[in-house]
Amino acid sequence: MKDTIIIKIDAENIDGKLIEKCAEILREGGIVAFPTETVYGLGADALNSGAVKRIFEAKGRPPDNPLIIHVSKTADILPLVKEIPENAYKVMEKFWPGPLTLIFKKSNIVPRETSGGLSTVAIRMPDHPIAIKLIEKSGAPIAAPSANISGKLSPTKAEHVIEDLMGKADVIIAGGDCDVGVESTVLDMTGEVPVILRPGVVSRETLEKVLGRVLVNSLAESLDKTKGKPDTMNTKHIHYSPKAKMMIIQGGLDSMVAKINELKNRYGKENKKVGIICTDETRGSYEKDTEEIIIKSLGSRKHPETIAANLFKILREFDKTDVEIILCESINDTEIGQAIMDRLKKAASTIV
Ligand code: TXA
Ligand code: MG
Repeated sequence: MKDTIIIKIDAENIDGKLIEKCAEILREGGIVAFPTETVYGLGADALNSGAVKRIFEAKGRPPDNPLIIHVSKTADILPLVKEIPENAYKVMEKFWPGPLTLIFKKSNIVPRETSGGLSTVAIRMPDHPIAIKLIEKSGAPIAAPSANISGKLSPTKAEHVIEDLMGKADVIIAGGDCDVGVESTVLDMTGEVPVILRPGVVSRETLEKVLGRVLVNSLAESLDKTKGKPDTMNTKHIHYSPKAKMMIIQGGLDSMVAKINELKNRYGKENKKVGIICTDETRGSYEKDTEEIIIKSLGSRKHPETIAANLFKILREFDKTDVEIILCESINDTEIGQAIMDRLKKAASTIV
C-alpha cells in the first residue's frame, strides 16, 4: 500500500500549479490517474519501462495486454511510429482530439512493456483539457489504460477510480465525470483495409465516410492471432465482471418487456433478488423499485450518447447492491449502439 494523493482539479478552471505537480510525478516515473473524455486513465511515461510496469502491477493487468499511448499534439506521434499511412492523416485530422485510438507499426523507442511485446503501438489524442495539459506539461507521451482493476468496469467518475486504485496509484486527479462513458474506438491502420478492434462512439458508419471500407474484428481475436496463440488470457481479460449474473434480453420493445417481467417473476419465486436495466421508453412498463427489485434506466433510446455515458456508472451501482440477477434490455445495434451492446455483452453471462 502506498499513500495515494487525491488532487481535485476543475476542468473549466485548471490550476496550472496542480497540473505541474502531477506532471512532475509522471516525469519521475510515478503513476497518475486522470480524466479523459471517454473514461479515466492510469498514466505513466510511455517510454519509461519501469514506470509502465507499475501500471500493470497497480491494475493486476496481464503483461501481454498492450497500453494506449496518449499525446497532446499530432506531431508527437512521429517518434513513436515507423510510418503513418496516408489515410491515417485523414482520420487524425477529422477525429483528434477525440475518442479514436489508432494502431501503427511501432518504432524502436517504444518499450516492450508498453506495447505488450507487439510490433505495433496504439495511440490517441484525448479531448479533455486536464488530460491535454497534463501530457503537455509532463513532456512525455503518456501510456494509460483505463484506471480500473483489471477485469472490472472502466471508471467514468473520480469515485470509481478511488474505489479501485486508492493505495495503488501515486495520484488520482478528481476532475469530474467523463462525458462519453465508453472507451475509445480502436482502429488498426496497419493493414490494407482499416479494422475496428473495439467499437466506440466513433462508429464504423462515421469512419467509412472518411476511409471507405472499414472492417470490424474482435480485439481478442486480433491479439491472439498476432501472437499465434489460439485462445489466450486476452479473451478472458476483456470481459467485465459484474457481481450479479447478467442476462441481456433481445427483441422488440414489447416482447423484451414481457420476457423481462416473466423472468423477474420466475426468479422472484426462487427468492433471488433481481435488478432490471431498462430505458426511459420502457421504465413505465415495470413496477416501482421495492425491497425485492431494483430498476434503473440507462436514459432515452433517442439519445444513445446518454446511454453510453450512464452505462458503467449504472453497472457499478448494481455492484453495490445485493442483486443476484440483472435482467438488461438490449439497444439498437447501430452506430453508438454497437459500442453499447459490445460492453453489455462483455458484462453479461447470457443473451436471450
Ligand atoms: O478510451 C480509452 O481508450 C481509454 C482512455 C484512458 O484513453 N483507455 C483504454 O485503455 O481503454 P485500455 O488499456 O483499457 O484498453 C486498450 C485496449 C486494450 O484492449 C488493448 O488490448 C488494446 O487497446 N490495444 C492496445 N495496443 C494495441 C495494439 N498494438 N494492437 C491491438 N490492440 C491494442
Ligand atoms: Mg480497460
